[in-house]
Amino acid sequence: MSYVLITGASSGIGKSIAATFAAKGHNLILVARRLAVLEEIKQELESAHAVEVVVIGSDLSVEANAIALYEQVSSYELTALINNAGFGNFNMLWDVDMERMSNMIDLNVSSLSRLSMLFSRDYKDKEAQLINVASVGGYMTMPGAATYVATKFYVTAYTESLAMELKAAGKPMKAKVLAPGPVETEFMDQANKTAKNEMDASGFTFHSSDQMAEFTYQLFESDDVVGIVDMSDMSFKTQDVIHPTFSI
Ligand SMILES: NC(=O)c1ccc[n+]([C@@H]2O[C@H](COP(=O)([O-])OP(=O)(O)OC[C@H]3O[C@@H](n4cnc5c(N)ncnc54)[C@H](OP(=O)(O)O)[C@@H]3O)[C@@H](O)[C@H]2O)c1
Repeated sequence: MSYVLITGASSGIGKSIAATFAAKGHNLILVARRLAVLEEIKQELESAHAVEVVVIGSDLSVEANAIALYEQVSSYELTALINNAGFGNFNMLWDVDMERMSNMIDLNVSSLSRLSMLFSRDYKDKEAQLINVASVGGYMTMPGAATYVATKFYVTAYTESLAMELKAAGKPMKAKVLAPGPVETEFMDQANKTAKNEMDASGFTFHSSDQMAEFTYQLFESDDVVGIVDMSDMSFKTQDVIHPTFSI
């Protein structure tokens, strides 16, 4: 039996990805801090689909917990790891809370790197997939979200480079980037309630988390490296790497 491991599966995009993959028949391992919420999701998905759902409560802003999580799931065969857990903070840099900034880097960058590295080590010679959730902000600067977009630039550069390493070494494992635009989830409330209200008032277009989960499945099924939202018309497309490349 094989499983798809999804971090940040208790709400938003991760929760919808879990539902979409369960509907396609994938067994799941779901991770987030709110274990009670994950237990409810497990019950819903197991009663609706013939799949097994394993739930694990973990705070991945502590890198040691990411390592412990990987050890905990080492007895399961994985089809894919979807590093989705993450949060943003929309403020001018001088107004950012220092502890929140550190937590964001620890979660969005350090734990994602640690899980990606361990997964590549074990799955590089298998038909497995690593999907790292970045953002359109991982390809463009965004005043008012400096640390957040920098964490997502890290995710896009890191994952695209890994994808090219795997290709150059002729490995079957795939590494992919999901780059959503604005999605209606708990994210904006966490990042900055005022900014969310302003975006709502200006008629900003959001995808639903279910739409983003369908896009994620499209990326999962494609041979491309990046799945990205085009902010000019909110369409989703998959394509090859975006960053300029320098080969050693
Ligand atoms: N929504 C958007 O507009 C948008 C746009 C581009 C990219 N993204 C990216 O999409 C991903 C998912 O965000 P979302 O929009 O679905 O937001 P969300 O609704 O706030 O979901 C975030 C998920 O991450 C989990 N999480 C947060 N901190 C965690 C921690 N320390 N340890 C373990 N799990 C943690 C949360 O669960 P618990 O609270 O239970 O831990 C939740 O399940 C993020 O990486 C985000 O940067 C979102």
